[in-house]
Amino acid sequence: MKRIVFTNDKGGVGKTTTVANLAVGIAKKGRKTLVIDMDPQGDVTYALLGERAPEAGDGYVPPTTHALLTGHYRIEQVSLEVNRYKNLFIIPSNADLADAALKLGQRPTRLRSLLDELPVNAFEVVLIDTGKGLDPLAVNALAAAQEVIVMVSPGKLELDAIARMKENVDLVRNEVLLKAGEPTIKGILLTLADQYSITRDTLERIKSNYPGLALKTSIPKNNDLQKAIGRARSIFEIAPNSKGAQAYRQLIEELGL
Ligand SMILES: Nc1ncnc2c1ncn2[C@@H]1O[C@H](COP(=O)(O)OP(=O)(O)O)[C@@H](O)[C@H]1O
Ligand SMILES: [Mg+2]
Repeated sequence: MKRIVFTNDKGGVGKTTTVANLAVGIAKKGRKTLVIDMDPQGDVTYALLGERAPEAGDGYVPPTTHALLTGHYRIEQVSLEVNRYKNLFIIPSNADLADAALKLGQRPTRLRSLLDELPVNAFEVVLIDTGKGLDPLAVNALAAAQEVIVMVSPGKLELDAIARMKENVDLVRNEVLLKAGEPTIKGILLTLADQYSITRDTLERIKSNYPGLALKTSIPKNNDLQKAIGRARSIFEIAPNSKGAQAYRQLIEELGL
């Protein structure tokens, strides 16, 4: 079971778009895939289910990452089958998840332990979407992963964020998961790439500053990707021949998924 988290403490760098489309693409290959929504905004939940998770209240506990992280549930009890796609499952989220951050401060390995309890063949691939900032939710997500994909969009400030993300990953590996040797950065993925020089400069800088980590695939700025997520469909349904769809197919190959 491969566990990958997509991270950047900035919003708007294409994390959710990447997790949603990769998940559908991998599931289409027949591999049983689980998406864990670790963002209280619930965007990947919307992208895959067409709505956010219902809110808890009056003794009603819907299956969510909030319930998983704050209650006494196993992963199997809170993962929903995404009806629209075969082999795809999700633990959805909504704004309730923001409260979990407080309780998770002292429990950085909560999500990892829950994943460790799964039978080894429960899922082949687990993709974790994160929100903004390095809060206890993001730390839990990093600590649960074997591999981290650092997401970057073109720009100088965006490049600076890579150094921060690298420190965060090192911190979790060296001070939270003392023995596991995880997580490690699998690659740096440039998204929202266009024809302007800032995109080329950013890519060059990634290659020179982080040799070996720049992924060959970058994700182009592509309106079809935005359209697809707005309609809660994957790019493979909305525009299977688009540049966006080609890029995500190539990324699946490059990551060996
Ligand atoms: N490659 C892309 N081309 C065009 N629009 C994109 C692309 N990736 C993301 N977007 C759009 O940019 C916005 C932010 O993307 P999102 O995936 O939600 O980022 P994050 O999860 O990092 O906050 C969304 O409106 C999304 O549709
Ligand atoms: Mg997002």
